[in-house]
Amino acid sequence: MSERSDLQGRHIVLGLTGGIACYKSAEFVRLLTKAGATVQVVMTEAAEAFITPVTMQALSGRSVVTSQWDAREPNNMAHINLGREADAVIVAPASADFIAKLAQGRADELLSLLCLARPRERCPLLVAPAMNREMWSHPATQRNVATLSADGARILGPGCGDQACGEVGDGRMLEPAELLEDLIAFFQPKLLAGRRLLITAGPTFEPIDPVRGITNHSSGKMGFALARAAAEAGADVTLVAGPVHLPTPRGVKRVNVMTASQMYDAVVPNAAAHEVFIATAAVADWRPASLSEHKIKKEGKKVAPTFELTENPDILAAVAALPKPPYCVGFAAESENLLEHARAKLIRKRIPLIIGNLGPATFGRDDNALLVVDAQAHHALPADGQPTDKLTLARALIQELAQRLQAVQA
Ligand code: C5P
Repeated sequence: MSERSDLQGRHIVLGLTGGIACYKSAEFVRLLTKAGATVQVVMTEAAEAFITPVTMQALSGRSVVTSQWDAREPNNMAHINLGREADAVIVAPASADFIAKLAQGRADELLSLLCLARPRERCPLLVAPAMNREMWSHPATQRNVATLSADGARILGPGCGDQACGEVGDGRMLEPAELLEDLIAFFQPKLLAGRRLLITAGPTFEPIDPVRGITNHSSGKMGFALARAAAEAGADVTLVAGPVHLPTPRGVKRVNVMTASQMYDAVVPNAAAHEVFIATAAVADWRPASLSEHKIKKEGKKVAPTFELTENPDILAAVAALPKPPYCVGFAAESENLLEHARAKLIRKRIPLIIGNLGPATFGRDDNALLVVDAQAHHALPADGQPTDKLTLARALIQELAQRLQAVQA
């Protein structure tokens, strides 16, 4: 997603402190600039032991600032100017020592000084810890991190896994792509803060025998984009996914299923605990009535085998029929007469909102054009009907959903 311009017009101060994860910050600068941000790198003396300002200057296209006594600033107040210009300060990597310093409000070099001096109400501080697992779990570090959070800083990660010291555990800095996703999410309006959303995505796979089955071309991209957009908007998201090879959006709980029956079991008993259910999955309407225990062999057969099919349960209709259903949103993938078919489905499944799209034109693609249909009205999304990337569409849909939820509850 780094080729998108999600950070267009944002100015980010990226602070590096002493840690081997500085090598990841080089890649992070590339991702930030590709996403449209301008990046001003600030390095502590310890960071310079791990990566050179030359590298960071080349990648950011700006001179790196390393000293509070940098006389290039006309007013000689780098610590004030840097914070005033920034939309956010992100310290990545943040060492245990630097976190301790921030927690205490100390300011004996440029980076801690500018973190303290920045206008807090409009320039947030994000901190990506990077350290050995013993250092991370030490009560002093945990105390400092809690203090930093209470003071309004956003802590990103840390991740878990192999560490440069040879140990395995919590304390790794998040990967550059994860930091980017978290930063982009941070800037999104929190329209669904605290809401619980359940989303289905992808195809289902209905086995015929141990090696074959019935499935469809759904890629899961629209459902995954919706899960990401909802999580960015502050929702607590559970994504029930059919067999797709897509990365789980940050902060989303994922439940993998294979068949329609498994999807039904993962969704229906849990749906009432959610405020919204969005059914983007392309659920197979039929499954083989019986499953062959062994592979059906071709040898010795004169005629092709035939299968009896049985109908799968309708997950969306079942959720909508619950005594206290969540707000249900369906998808209608059609090949013609989009409005007519979508409206018919809305009525048949007794749901308040359905999103129509042309199946053959969208399956597997990164962009789509939608028709938003309720009982009274319909409109195109985007308004000009031109295909747009699925994450942009998902964010627009989440915005619309937030408005509808407010109206329902008003
Ligand atoms: O009836 P049809 O499959 O065209 O309806 C599509 C909508 O219903 C989608 O939102 C889809 O996720 C949902 N659906 C479902 N369970 C099924 C079939 C469809 O939840 N068995």
